[in-house]
Amino acid sequence: MNNKIRKIGVLTSGGDSPGMNAAIRAVVRTALYYDLEVYGIRRGYQGMIEGDIYRMHTTDVANIIQRGGTILKTARSKEFMTEQGMKKAYNQLQKHDIEALVLIGGDGTFRGATQFFEQYTIPAVGVPGTIDKDLGGTDHTIGFDTALNTAVEAIDKIRDTAEAHDRLFVVEVMGRDAGYIALNSGIACGAEDILIPESKTNIKEVLDRIDRDERRKKQVHILVVAEGDGLHGGKGIFDHIKERFPTLDTRLCVLGHIQRGGAPSCADRVLASRLGYGAIQALRNDRTQVMAGIVDGKLAYTPFRNSTKQNSHISEDMLEMIRVLSV
Ligand code: F6P
Repeated sequence: MNNKIRKIGVLTSGGDSPGMNAAIRAVVRTALYYDLEVYGIRRGYQGMIEGDIYRMHTTDVANIIQRGGTILKTARSKEFMTEQGMKKAYNQLQKHDIEALVLIGGDGTFRGATQFFEQYTIPAVGVPGTIDKDLGGTDHTIGFDTALNTAVEAIDKIRDTAEAHDRLFVVEVMGRDAGYIALNSGIACGAEDILIPESKTNIKEVLDRIDRDERRKKQVHILVVAEGDGLHGGKGIFDHIKERFPTLDTRLCVLGHIQRGGAPSCADRVLASRLGYGAIQALRNDRTQVMAGIVDGKLAYTPFRNSTKQNSHISEDMLEMIRVLSV
């Protein structure tokens, strides 16, 4: 048991994700339960550099478990990637006597952490918060489930209007260079095709499938495309379709940041609570420079360097299933 740590700092960094507030709440309440002082660092690493730091109490996290966004605000700090920025950040931590950190974020957050901790020694634990679900060391990331459900709800609505007009829709979803949102929302919405970066898109095959469906007079055709798909996301596919089928009534809909907002789902609230709690337990047990995750249903801790950007292989079976179900 680590009895030395008395003051901890908590921040959210990178793209926000629904459930980050639930994670902050769990971190703050667990830390206070064990008599640790908690300091909120606003706007991620940028706030750390600028000393935008305040003491947090249990009431600061009341009534936030159900709210999207992050009460700590977030940023993608370029300055933190520099030697000078990291030094300034470390000096601020020292000035506030912060002895350990909880970092809530995604790939960029843990990459930043890995670099920072090569130079400065301060215990830290990560909590995976990203809608992209592109991290190693965890089966789930906070926000993915909510973003997925938002995408599903939106695509269902698009299907209604697509059917009314006999239109073809290309729907682009987020995920940076990972295809999990596209894959899962596409399956859940019965998309006619799903294009993801993990599987090389053969545009001729995609267009031939549209051609075949048109001949069969299939009325609705929805293609769900990950923004990171190799052919420049939704717009790239849309342009190819327009070129080959100029008379086809085709529309492009980019779902965009709607996928990042909104009240977190029940699954994301529970996940965030477990991981926030798990992060403080790790610090108390001297498990540091790790990210807390859930593997096979249990809390697991993975070193930062192994947690960044991991797109798992999507099996051929899954891709074949998509083809079969969309016939
Ligand atoms: O990483 C989360 C994410 O929403 C990605 O899916 C997307 O590519 C990116 O962030 C968008 O970033 P920004 O909000 O900075 O435009």
